[in-house]
Amino acid sequence: SVPRLDVVTIFPDYLAPLDLSLLGKARTGGLVDLRVHDLRAQTTDRHRTVDDAPFGGGAGMVMRPDVWERAIAATAVDGDASPDERELVVLVPTPSGRPLTQAFAQELADELAAPDVRAVIACGRYEGIDARLVPALRERADVRRVVEFSLGDFVLNGGEVAALALLEAVVRLLPGVLGNPDSVVEESFTHEAVLEYPVYTRPADWDGHEVPPVLLSGDHARVARWRREQSLRRTVERRPELVARLDGLDELDVVTLA
Ligand code: ADE
Repeated sequence: SVPRLDVVTIFPDYLAPLDLSLLGKARTGGLVDLRVHDLRAQTTDRHRTVDDAPFGGGAGMVMRPDVWERAIAATAVDGDASPDERELVVLVPTPSGRPLTQAFAQELADELAAPDVRAVIACGRYEGIDARLVPALRERADVRRVVEFSLGDFVLNGGEVAALALLEAVVRLLPGVLGNPDSVVEESFTHEAVLEYPVYTRPADWDGHEVPPVLLSGDHARVARWRREQSLRRTVERRPELVARLDGLDELDVVTLA
């Protein structure tokens, strides 16, 4: 079986970019089974209602847990095929969730590479989904875990962009998706929390803006040393809170950081 992820949303068109670029290729190439569902398909009233006023009062609307539970369960029975019996990892984008990290993306990619697990991303809108949904899902025998995750400390209007971000981060880590797995191994956050070094290409002299000469030296050890130094400097300057988490520093790293 191929890794499967379903997205449930009231705006399926928001997920149209899943047809493009690396994700689009992974889908058409049969490396991932990505499906998008309309939450309103699980409504039962004439107005296709997915939300209602908050108990206790206050601004905005809250999404109904009953509609959401049906929609998540319904992802298992798509079309005429027999129900998908894989265990569910339910992912809920929300600003109050745990911050999305490379480690979490890798954990999900590893989980989904196994044949008995699939993921459903539940995109909320308005003031969020009724708080009873997540604990109720955790009680279901077909639910392996529920993870509320956040893109960062800012507020989006809904979870769709967060779903796209998560999918971009996870699908590229699935087996066979990237042509060159070395590019994953080398990049930021894979082994340690250090930012990437700056990169350059032709022309070497662009209207007087020159590429750092060390990169044209052909001395691979010097290039590697320079890149490491740039990475560390950037990290200190832009993300000082990451420096405490650096491990495996060598003597030259310590000099750079001093
Ligand atoms: N939904 C609304 N804001 C969000 C955020 N910052 N991260 C993830 N999902 C969200």
